[in-house]
Amino acid sequence: MGAFQTLPGFREFFPEDLARRNHVFRLWRRTANAFGFSEYDAPVLEPLDLYRAKSGDEIETQLFSFTDKGGREVALRPEMTPTVCRLVGERAGTLKRPIKWYSIAEFYRYERMQKGRGRCFFQLNADIFGEPGPEAEIELIALLIQSFTAFGLTAEDVWVRLSDRNLWFFYLEALGLDEPRVRAVLGAVDKFERMGDDAFKPYAEKFGPLDEAIKAKVLAFLQIKSLAGLEQALAAAGGGERLSARLADWKKLLGGLDAMGLSPFVTVDLGVVRGLAYYTGFVFEAFDRKGELRALAGGGRYDDLVAKLGGPELPAAGFAIGDMTFSLLLEQRGLMPPLAPAADVYVVIGGQKEREAAFADIASLRGAGYRVEYPMKEVAFGKQFKAAVESGARIALIYGSEELARGVVKLRDLRSRTEHDVSKAEVASAVRSVFTGQ
Ligand code: HAM
Repeated sequence: MGAFQTLPGFREFFPEDLARRNHVFRLWRRTANAFGFSEYDAPVLEPLDLYRAKSGDEIETQLFSFTDKGGREVALRPEMTPTVCRLVGERAGTLKRPIKWYSIAEFYRYERMQKGRGRCFFQLNADIFGEPGPEAEIELIALLIQSFTAFGLTAEDVWVRLSDRNLWFFYLEALGLDEPRVRAVLGAVDKFERMGDDAFKPYAEKFGPLDEAIKAKVLAFLQIKSLAGLEQALAAAGGGERLSARLADWKKLLGGLDAMGLSPFVTVDLGVVRGLAYYTGFVFEAFDRKGELRALAGGGRYDDLVAKLGGPELPAAGFAIGDMTFSLLLEQRGLMPPLAPAADVYVVIGGQKEREAAFADIASLRGAGYRVEYPMKEVAFGKQFKAAVESGARIALIYGSEELARGVVKLRDLRSRTEHDVSKAEVASAVRSVFTGQ
C-alpha cells in the first residue's frame, strides 16, 4: 500500500495474529487471577515528567513525546511502573494490603529494531505494594514462572536470573566507592554481557579509569552463580550486619521458591542488575534457555518510587513480561495452538424460500450462543458442504426444499459423518444434544 505502510516497529494484527495474541492474554489473565491479583488500566498518554529521571536515561531517550495542543509536554507510556505507582499512591490509605495488581497493556519505545523488539509491544505487568520482605518476590517470581508454564513451557525452555541491587550497593560501598560511582559501575555491569570491557567506558569518561583491583572484584562478583558463592564473597568483603541480614533475605526467597517446586527455573546470577533507575533490591530477568532471544521478562523491587512520585512511603516490587519475545518462543516450541474453528453450526440452504425458513433457526441458535454461519448468496450444495467443513463446524443443518416440505431439517454430524432428520420445531434441542452428547 505504498505510502500508507505502518510506521517502522509498529504492528498490525490480522485475525489470525489477534487470535494468537488473545490466547496469550487469556492465559496470562487466568494465571494472574489464580494468584489473587486484580486487573487495572490507565491512560496511554501521560505527562512527560512522569518518566523524566524516574525510568532512567535509556528509556528517556526512547520516548515518543510531543507537545499537545494545550502546550503540555506529553509522552506515550514506555512502561507501566510510574503510572501504577501514581494509581496506588492516590488510594494507598484505603487499599487493603498487600496490594496485588496486574494489567495487560500496550507500550511505546523508540528503539532500534531487532528480533523480538519493536516500537510498540504489550506487557503483562504484575506488582505488589505494601510488602517489604522477600515474601513479595516469592509471590511475583512464582507468578512469573506460572505465566510461562501455563503455556506448556518448562524449566528446559525458560529460566529466571535472580540478582540483588542492594547487595551490589553494599558490596561496592564496602570496596570504597561512593553512590555516583556505584551507579556507574552498575551501568557497566548491566551492559558487560553484551559489550565486554567497552561497558566500562562511560564510567571512565566520568570518573577516570576504574581501579584495576576493584574492577577484578566486580568481574568476579558478577560471575557468582550460587548462594554458597555469594556467602563466600561477602565473608571475604568483611561480612557485617547489613550483609548478613541480606543473606537471610536471600535464603528466605530461595527457600520459598524451592518449596513451591520452582528451583529448577531459578539461578543466582549477579550479572543481572537491570537498566531501569528505580530498582532498589532484588532484581530478576527471564530468558529462554537457548539464549536465542532477548529478555522475556524483567522486574524487581522499587521501594522509593511511590514516594518519589508524590505518594506515601510504600514498598513495591513487580515485573513485566513482553508479548513479542514470548510469542516467538511459543512459536519456536510449537506451543501456539492452532486457530480455533470459526463456527459450531453451518447452515446449508437450498434456495430463497428455504433461506427464510432457515433464518428463524439461525437467529435462535445464535441467541443461544452457538456460532452459526451460512452462505450469503445462493451457491451450489457441493460448495456449501465444502465451506461447512472449512468453517470447522461440528454440525451442518440442511434446509432443502424436499426436507422442508416434510417439515424437517437434515442434521449432519460432520465429525461422525452421520445424518438424520429432525423436526423443524426441534432444531435447537437436536443441536444442543450433539454438543452436550446427551
Ligand atoms: P523492561 O525490562 O524494560 O521492564 O521490560 C520488560 C519486558 O518487556 C522485557 O523483558 C521485554 O520482554 C519487553 N520489552 C521491553 N521493551 C521492548 C521492546 N522495545 N520491544 C518488545 N518488547 C519489549 C519494565 O518495563 C519494567 N517497568 C517492569 C517492571 C514492572 N518492574 C517493576 N514492575
